[in-house]
Amino acid sequence: MNWLIVGHGALASLWAHHLHANDKSVSLITRNANTASSEEDFVLETNSEQQHQRIAAIPWGQLDTSRLDGAQLLIMVKAWQLDAVLQQLADVLAQGNAKPNAIILSHNGLGAADALVQRHPEWPLYDLVTTQGAWRKSPRHTVHAGQGESVIGPRQTAADNACAAPPAWFTPLANALPPLNWEPDILVQRWQKLAINCAINPLASLAGSSNQVLQDSQYNAEIQAICAEVAAVAEVVLGQGRLIASELEARVYTVITATANNTCSMLQDLKQGNPTEIDYLNGYIVQLGAAYGIPTPVNQRLYSAIKALQV
Ligand SMILES: NC(=O)c1ccc[n+]([C@@H]2O[C@H](COP(=O)([O-])OP(=O)(O)OC[C@H]3O[C@@H](n4cnc5c(N)ncnc54)[C@H](OP(=O)(O)O)[C@@H]3O)[C@@H](O)[C@H]2O)c1
Repeated sequence: MNWLIVGHGALASLWAHHLHANDKSVSLITRNANTASSEEDFVLETNSEQQHQRIAAIPWGQLDTSRLDGAQLLIMVKAWQLDAVLQQLADVLAQGNAKPNAIILSHNGLGAADALVQRHPEWPLYDLVTTQGAWRKSPRHTVHAGQGESVIGPRQTAADNACAAPPAWFTPLANALPPLNWEPDILVQRWQKLAINCAINPLASLAGSSNQVLQDSQYNAEIQAICAEVAAVAEVVLGQGRLIASELEARVYTVITATANNTCSMLQDLKQGNPTEIDYLNGYIVQLGAAYGIPTPVNQRLYSAIKALQV
């Protein structure tokens, strides 16, 4: 099977390593337009053990449209990077008649590149939601820091892939980095993850601390309010009873306990002077709340506070 993975970020490298260990037909599509395609040495560190693999890296500029035919693409970039990546993909696809088997997106938040995706109803889009944890020690050295689990399912806007049963490529992907489960109703899972991120990321970032700080009872009221606002917006978007505020709250506390010693990605981004994904987290809730006339004052306050910290 032909797997193409965009970038060599933390998650992309993690999946590339695991897929490549099972099946060598994995290539990375890299940002640099001017270099030639090459095989490069990538390192994956798990429990202090280092695994080296040579994986093909193809710059976007060198990517022949025929490489995309029948391929599975994994696009694991920050939400704010997705629009540019999908535009590059659209440009390459426009040069021929290639039809990818699957375009698998994995990022935190909702709403990224929605306008562009709507212009391409022919794209076979899938969303992958994961609690695997990875970070990059250097551009070609990734640390698998937390064993998690993943779910994947079809994006409901793609007319031709709204299937209940998993496609043929699902099993090799699931075998590469288990556990990965098939979830036809992936949108609800994305909303659940959105609620968790809307609570943990801005609150821990504003506290400048690991997630453990949120175990303090002073955060209870705010966490409850964030979940209530997300559930109220979700009720309009998804329908009644699909997200329950008290269940979201319970999930938030489960993740706080499980990741107590972790620094959330938003705080890492702020410390490194990088953009955060706030527009696709609390910003998304605020935007939908305004559109549907649902008050979202707590998400609005957190959104503004994080925006003020971004350079
Ligand atoms: N890491 C985790 O443990 C984890 C867990 C769950 C969810 N997530 C979510 O998954 C998403 C990806 O996270 P991450 O930690 O893997 O981020 P990351 O390490 O910053 O990786 C993003 C990668 O995408 C590359 N990229 C961006 N635009 C590109 C383009 N046009 N062409 C080629 N490559 C491009 C970046 O290249 P440059 O290096 O050149 O910028 C970078 O290597 C985020 O939404 C994150 O919140 C992450």
